[in-house]
Parts: sequence; structure tokens; C-alpha cells
Amino acid sequence: MPQPYYNVSNKMLFISKQTWSFLFILFILAFFTTLLHYSHHTNTPAHKSSHFYLDSFLSSATNYTLATYLRHLTLHPHLAGTLPSLHTALYVKSHFQSLNLQTHVTNYTVLLSYPLFSSVTLHFPNGSVLSLTLSEPGLSSTGVVKPYHAYSPSGSVYGKPVFLNYGREMDYIALGVHGVKVKGCVGIVRRGGRLSRNEVVEKAAARGVTAVLMFTDSEFAGGVERGTVMSGVGDPLSPGWGGVENGEKLRLDDPIVMQKFPSIHSLPISMISAETILKSLEGAEMPYEWRKSMRCSTSGRVGPGPIMLNFTYEGERKMATVQNVFAVIRGSEEPDRFVLLGNHRDAWTYGAVDPNSGTAALLDIARRYALLIRLGWNPRRTIILCSWDAEEFGMIGSTEWVEQNLLTLGSKSVAYLNVDCAVQGPGFFPSTTPQFDDLLTEITKKVNDPDSEGMTLYERWTAANRGIRIQRLTAVDSDFAPFLHHAGVPSVDLYYGKDFPVYHTAFDSYNWMVNFGDPFFQRHVAVTGVWGLLALRLAEDPILPFNYLPYAAELQDYNRILTDLLEGSNISLHPITAATQQLAAAAKQTLEEAKKLKEDEATDEHTVLKRRILNDQLMFAERGFLDEEGLQGRPWFKHMVYGPRNDGESELDFFPGLANAISRSSGLKSGEHNAETQHEIWRIARAIQRAAHTLKGIVLSVLRMQVYGPRNDGENELDFFPGLANAISRSSGLKSGEHNASIQHEIWRIARAIQRAAHALKCELT
Ligand SMILES: *[C@@H]1O[C@H](CO)[C@@H](O)[C@H](O)[C@H]1NC(C)=O
Ligand SMILES: *[C@@H]1O[C@H](CO)[C@@H](O)[C@H](O)[C@H]1NC(C)=O
Ligand SMILES: *[C@@H]1O[C@H](CO)[C@@H](O)[C@H](O)[C@H]1NC(C)=O
Ligand SMILES: *[C@@H]1O[C@H](CO)[C@@H](O)[C@H](O)[C@H]1NC(C)=O
Ligand SMILES: *[C@@H]1O[C@H](CO)[C@@H](O)[C@H](O)[C@H]1NC(C)=O
Ligand SMILES: *[C@@H]1O[C@H](CO)[C@@H](O)[C@H](O)[C@H]1NC(C)=O
Ligand SMILES: [Zn+2]
Repeated sequence: MPQPYYNVSNKMLFISKQTWSFLFILFILAFFTTLLHYSHHTNTPAHKSSHFYLDSFLSSATNYTLATYLRHLTLHPHLAGTLPSLHTALYVKSHFQSLNLQTHVTNYTVLLSYPLFSSVTLHFPNGSVLSLTLSEPGLSSTGVVKPYHAYSPSGSVYGKPVFLNYGREMDYIALGVHGVKVKGCVGIVRRGGRLSRNEVVEKAAARGVTAVLMFTDSEFAGGVERGTVMSGVGDPLSPGWGGVENGEKLRLDDPIVMQKFPSIHSLPISMISAETILKSLEGAEMPYEWRKSMRCSTSGRVGPGPIMLNFTYEGERKMATVQNVFAVIRGSEEPDRFVLLGNHRDAWTYGAVDPNSGTAALLDIARRYALLIRLGWNPRRTIILCSWDAEEFGMIGSTEWVEQNLLTLGSKSVAYLNVDCAVQGPGFFPSTTPQFDDLLTEITKKVNDPDSEGMTLYERWTAANRGIRIQRLTAVDSDFAPFLHHAGVPSVDLYYGKDFPVYHTAFDSYNWMVNFGDPFFQRHVAVTGVWGLLALRLAEDPILPFNYLPYAAELQDYNRILTDLLEGSNISLHPITAATQQLAAAAKQTLEEAKKLKEDEATDEHTVLKRRILNDQLMFAERGFLDEEGLQGRPWFKHMVYGPRNDGESELDFFPGLANAISRSSGLKSGEHNAETQHEIWRIARAIQRAAHTLKGIVLSVLRMQVYGPRNDGENELDFFPGLANAISRSSGLKSGEHNASIQHEIWRIARAIQRAAHALKCELT
């Protein structure tokens, strides 16, 4: 009988790093030690009364704590990399510490971007000059950052304005039909149309537009929507790896870094400023379709000109330190299985909606979990509360952390539950990967609806949508992206309300929340309830509450949509159809197995091992959807079912690689494009097949060898570190700086690989 290596009834949450490491080494090297340990403890009162803790969690809901946390967080604007932002990190940290939760801060020094100077002047044909107001009214001394686009290049242009609608492909086609030439002009674009800011600017640049002004066509005419124009996610100087202190950082002029930023400059303006420009335009008539959906008043014409715009923007890119703050509640029986709850903390301005309504919920979950701990609770699995920094610049805090801990997270994370703008108004809008559908639905039956007395959230939500309506995580718009799209961790994203009018403006403040978003903080209570219960079930249920049948059903739906779309072509969808059938069969088999094991209360070694094996299958199945090569042209995005499409206008919001291939081929009915589309179909089919196999228990590894492998040059002296050996071969004789850089890069790759091995051995998160 092995010694229990720590006492589960011990209420102390702080355990030393050494204990952690020791604990995890035991897990890896002596799995059976753990198993005996389980059987020893599965009968403790703490485990038997899981229901008691779920009920206690629900009954500990309050709206005033949520209001208090939100008030604190939104006292000052707290843009990432600034001092007030550090203060919010310390506030969150001290909150966790005051609850006796094990607390941890991880810093990254990353490239951020701030505005220095901006001006836009209108030059009328009669010689008069008008200077646009670029900041929001009444905010000169509040510390709110001037409206800008992070990572926009600096520069100055003088040109005629032209209205580009949403800046989509089809908008340029409509302009072309009317003979409008946009080359050399300053584009005026309204936000929307499903394009990211980066996509809008890149598409404009590709057509010779010299700069872009963007406005939000909303009821809230005075606000200006800040945002990032970087492409991709994470610190631009450490693409694909954790940007740790003393780690590899690319140079600012490295082509890989340069291509993350647009080549032309851009700036957000208010709708009032946009009206001033749009009312002065002459030239071709605005297409009826555009005009009828505009709130903003215009001349009804698109330009270009006759007025001229002088648009200048100066910004600085600089290294700044950002902080991720964590609280860890160690699992008592499966400490090496993680349930992560995450929300970002940094805001463009005060951030009452975006993101601190979610931060208030995170802090309240910490409070309520701490209460359960005082009542004797110890979750079965480890729960980690994550407060991310620099999300607004491109999911930087979460991405760096995921990249740094990829192997550990990939092999131990059960689920990532994200909340960003928790409360924007009325209505429940969840997004999940489909294995969560049943669990989420069940949980909404336990939470009260915030807007109707005596109804559950489930009743109101399903009445509003005439059924269950769960969105999928296709957009890259919050911190779930690195977890799902890069690491393949099943994910959730929860919202109350949508499309709030003060998005990224100086008016996203506590006052707005109290006046419009959630006057009684009851919607905050509802989100907190759903979020906290999801994590509780995932951390507590002996068999993970995942059902993959809805996943298979969803894939079948996608297949039906594709069948219509590809009708008449000689492209075969059969590979996806067959793979989806395999997934459905595996899902069904797993469900039966889960049912059997749930009924079996035995705690002998064999049964405990069977549960653990089944849970591993349920946890790893999502990883099957990852493809090592990732999306064509965007290899960081590895998920074949959900991820970004290159063309926001594509009808398909799933299978991004295939959607991109179809977009590229549109109109061209050449065999070459069919072949590419068919190849993407095979890649998806293989991904679905991997998920099906994993669900049945065949575990796969996706990492490439960095230490041993083939060298390109058999004569090379090095018969280890093949990537480095090849880089050295390529450079032999050539003593140019370029080759030094690629050798250095290979050395960093090897170093990170060795580090991953070290972390895996210790099973530590940083
Ligand atoms: C993280 O950064 C903050 C602010 O720059 C600093 O005070 C703190 O000591 C850093 N923490 C660690 C662990 O490096
Ligand atoms: C010039 O034209 C603009 C726009 O039509 C008008 O607002 C302005 O008053 C004019 N200025 C002069 C000096 O005529
Ligand atoms: C445009 O504005 C900038 C900044 O205000 C100024 O330096 C520049 O001379 C102006 N250019 C023209 C052509 O008016
Ligand atoms: C909490 O909810 C109650 C009932 O809806 C309400 O009367 C109270 O004002 C709310 N408190 C806060 C701080 O919003
Ligand atoms: C599919 O059709 C295209 C053109 O319609 C043709 O060029 C190509 O060879 C066909 N491919 C197959 C696999 O039949
Ligand atoms: C690479 O090495 C060569 C020869 O040692 C040296 O001249 C060159 O400056 C180095 N380049 C860089 C970027 O360090
Ligand atoms: Zn946000």
C-alpha cells in the first residue's frame, strides 16, 4: 500500500513548488500509485456530496459583490502595458490571495502599440479647411487613450476620400460596376460585414487605397471604436512560441514580423466625423443596398472627392510588460487534469462591458469556490482561474501562455471556459464546441433567468430562439482562440446581450452598465452561475460530461450544406461523410460505456482505471481535429473544423481550410482548383477520423522530433539536432548574416523542445 502523498482533507491550498513537481512526477512514473490512492479516497464525504457543493454554489449568488468588483475594476482606464493596468492585475491578485487561493502571476514582455499624434483635415474646393475632432467629447483629462488602431504604421497622406461600404470584395465589385476608381484615394469604411480591421485595411491596400478611416454606424454617434489591425494572434515578436524573458525574439524588421502589420495607415473616427466627410462626397451614386442600411446621413454619393483629406497618424510600437494572473484550486483525485476558466482584464478604456463584466464574474466565482472550500470541498480535478492581459492587442497574454505550456496543456486540459464581454444587454448567447451542448443545456435549467421572475434561464433562452441555439467558435475574437484553434482544447464562450453600442469607446463605463447594460446586476449573476456550474461539473463528475453525438450531428449538417454548395462539381464529399459516420459510431459506443461506468460505483483499481481511460478518450478526442500543418497560409491555426476563414464573406463558417479553398476557386472551374478543394476535404476527413479513433482510445502524438531525425546532408558531421545540422549545411561557405539568423533560430527551436521535455517531466505550468 503506497503512502498517500498528501492529505486530501488538508485545507491549506498553498503547497510548495517542490510538492507540485513531486506529485506530478509520481503521476507520470507510477500511475498505479495514484490508482490505489483514488480507491482509498473515493468514499470521502467530500466526494459523495458533490450535489451539496453544487447547491451551495448556487445559493451563494449575490449581485452586490459583482457590482462592487466591477466598480473597482473600472475606476480608471486600464490599457494593457500601462500603470493603471498593472493596478488591476494587483487587484485581481490580492482578491485571489485574500481568499487563500494559490495565486500565480506570469509576466511577458511583448510588443504593444500606442498613438502619439493624429490629425484629419478636410480641404474644400472653395479653399476652406476643416479639422475633424478625433477624440470623444469630454475626455481630454481622463487618461482615456486617444482613438487609434494598434500597430497601424505611421504616415501622412493627401487624397480624395471614397466610400467603400464595409470594404468587402463585393463592395469593390459594386464600385467597379459604377466606374469608381479607388486607387490613390483615402477609403472611408463602416465597420461590420464580418471582416476584421486587418482584413479591411489589407483589402484596401491591395487596391491601391492609401489610408483608411473606419467608423461604426451605430445609434451612439459620438463614440469611436478603437481596435487592433494586427493579423494573427500573440506577441508579433514570438510567433508560435512563448515570448518568455531571455527567449527568442524576432527583430522588428524581420519579414515575418512586418507581414503582421498592414502596409497603409488607418484610424477610427466617430460617426459624426464620418458624416461630415460622407455629406461632402460627389461622384457616383451610392448603391441602394448600402444606403438603405445606413444610419449615418450622407450625400447619397460615394466620391471620390471633390474634397481632399489630409490624414496623418504617428504611433509608437514599444516593448511593455503584461501580466497574466492565476488562481489554482488543486484537484484532490486527478490533480493533473485541468479545468480552465479565463477572461481578459485589459481594456481599451474603462472596460465595464469589455471585458470587466467577465472579470467581475471571475472574481465572484473565486469568492464562491473559496466558500465551498471552507465548507470542506476539494474538487476531483484541478481548477485554474485565468485573468489574461493584452487581449485587445491580439489575444497576447493567453496566446503566449498557451504557446509556452503547449505540451502540458495539450496533455492535461479537460476544457477551457471563456467569458469576455459577459454582459452587454439582454439575451443569452453561448458558443461552444458541440460536445458541451448537453451539459450546457442541463445547466441552464438550474440557473434563474435574470429578466423574468420565476423562469429558468433555459425556459427564456429556448423560448426566445424557439429551441436550443448554441453558436460555434469560428471567429478569432477572444482568448479561446489559442486553446481551441491552436491546442485543440474543448472550449466555451458565454455572453449576455450582443452588439452593445459603446464597444471599444470611452463610454464603456460603469455608468453605462448601470444605466443600460445591467441595472440590477442580475445578468451578471446569471452568467456567473452558468460559468461556475460548468466548471464545477467538469471538475467534479467522475465521468466527464461530454457527449460527442451532437458533434457528429453538427458535422453531418455541415456536410449537407456542402453537398448543396458543391452540386454539379466533380468534387467528392464522401471522405467526410464516411469519417463522420465513424465519429458517430465512436460517440455512441463511448456514451454507452459512460453509462455503464456511471452506474458502476465500484472503487477497485480496475474500475478506476477504466474511468480514467474513458475520460482520457473524451478529453483527447477534440485534439484529433488538429492538423500538424494547420491552415494553408496560416499554419498556427491547427483546427480543421473551427477557425478563421481568409474571406469573411464566405458562406461557410466551418471547415476554414475548405472554405478558403472554395473562395480561391470561385468562378474558376479549373481542375487545379478542384484538386485543391478535394485535398482540403481529405484533410478534414482525416481529422474527423483521428477524433473518432481517439474517442475509441487510440492516442496520437502530433509533435515533430527536434533531437533525432534525418539530415538533408548525409555528409554532415552532426548526427543529432537535424534541423540545426541542415541549417549549418545550407550556410557552409556562406558567412552571411542571413544564415547566422537561421542557425540561431534552429538553436532556439531545439532549446524550446528540450524545455518542453523538461516541463513534461515535471508537469508544471508556468
Ligand atoms: C511582473 O511585472 C511587474 C510589473 O512590471 C513586477 O512588479 C513584478 O515583479 C513582475 N513579476 C515577476 C514574477 O517577474
Ligand atoms: C466652402 O464649402 C463648404 C462646404 O460646402 C462650406 O461649408 C463652407 O462654408 C464654404 N466656405 C466658404 C468660405 O465659402
Ligand atoms: C497635412 O497635415 C500634416 C499634419 O498636420 C501637416 O504637417 C502637413 O503639412 C499637411 N499636408 C498638407 C498637404 O496639407
Ligand atoms: C440586486 O438585486 C436586487 C433585486 O433585483 C436589486 O433591488 C438591487 O438593487 C440589486 N443590487 C445592485 C447592487 O444592483
Ligand atoms: C473535374 O472537373 C474539371 C473541370 O470541370 C476537370 O478539369 C478535372 O479533370 C475533373 N477532375 C476529376 C478528378 O475528374
Ligand atoms: C554572421 O557571421 C558573420 C561572420 O562571422 C559576420 O560577419 C556577420 O556580421 C554575422 N551576422 C550577424 C547578423 O550576426
Ligand atoms: Zn474583450
